[in-house]
Amino acid sequence: MKAIVAHQYGGPEVLKLEEIPQPEAKEDEILVRVIAAGVNPVDAAARSQKFGQFLHIKLPAIPGYDIAGIVEKAGAKITKFKPGDPVYAYIALDKGGGYAQYAVATEKEAAAKPQSLTYVEAAAVPLVAETAWQALIDTARLSAGQTVLIHGGSGGVGSFAIQIAKARGAKVMATASTANQDLLKQLGADVAIDYTKQKFEDVAKDVDVVLDSVGKDTLARSYGVVKKGGFIVSIVGRPDPTQLEKHGIHGASISVEPNSSELAEIGRLIDEKKIKVIVSQTFPVAEAAKAQEQIATRHTRGKIVLKVAEEPK
Ligand SMILES: NC(=O)c1ccc[n+]([C@@H]2O[C@H](COP(=O)([O-])OP(=O)(O)OC[C@H]3O[C@@H](n4cnc5c(N)ncnc54)[C@H](OP(=O)(O)O)[C@@H]3O)[C@@H](O)[C@H]2O)c1
Repeated sequence: MKAIVAHQYGGPEVLKLEEIPQPEAKEDEILVRVIAAGVNPVDAAARSQKFGQFLHIKLPAIPGYDIAGIVEKAGAKITKFKPGDPVYAYIALDKGGGYAQYAVATEKEAAAKPQSLTYVEAAAVPLVAETAWQALIDTARLSAGQTVLIHGGSGGVGSFAIQIAKARGAKVMATASTANQDLLKQLGADVAIDYTKQKFEDVAKDVDVVLDSVGKDTLARSYGVVKKGGFIVSIVGRPDPTQLEKHGIHGASISVEPNSSELAEIGRLIDEKKIKVIVSQTFPVAEAAKAQEQIATRHTRGKIVLKVAEEPK
């Protein structure tokens, strides 16, 4: 099969398109014919080993944690899927393998592809939508009537976080730059904040939950906008225990884990038209390096997806 392979850590130039053997599905895995693969900031971070041991990948490595495709083979212990089933999956960070014509996933990682989406759209969903779900629902326990401030609302995680929060019945405030104010509104944000023109803390006050996908100064300035007893969940940094205590609030840092029941629930919300998927750019898989350069800018609108094969008719 054709796959993007990195034989060394480094810049985007280490990514090469090669002919290599297909992976084999173990008894608890499905072999998926990949139609599209999602691109995430972590793909570039893993390639450059930006986080050192925290995200150590073995070489040679095939990047990519998000796939959408068709089940080619199902291992002996697989009960949920059979050959021919359309699926999408977030493959765990210690495995990857998505930028390839074939990839393997477990039942914990995969769910039925939402019927209303193309494969390109489906590949844009798993990692970021599960992150938003695990941050807002599992960790911060966001509930109807609460107010949430979502930093980076126009990006991969943020675009799903806004919609998941709205589907929960929360009031949503979200930040992005000027060019993405329209997108925040289109996604359902009640209050769109242009971080290039306004300080978010001048607009957002007494919120129940903050979802931080930006970190550093943005996280540092977020403690003061949360009401007593509220929650800051960061996906890029560790909330400071001293600040949390000073403001009488809770905080957590999370790392997304594959969760197929959550992915199936997200798929239902998509098919019910409660969540839409924003794909701003696609690249042929051979141009994976360009896609990773783009994702590393930290200014992606919605998602970037690699096309690995033609969409089936
Ligand atoms: N812990 C985990 O499990 C986990 C999971 C997924 C992602 N992450 C991390 O979370 C971060 C976001 O991921 P992503 O996939 O959503 O990235 P992304 O698609 O690149 O989106 C980043 C978004 O942040 C916005 N942004 C940049 N600077 C900002 C600022 N100062 N204030 C507010 N918004 C700002 C950008 O909007 P503008 O272009 O309008 O500025 C862009 O839409 C990445 O660092 C990623 O590695 C962590």
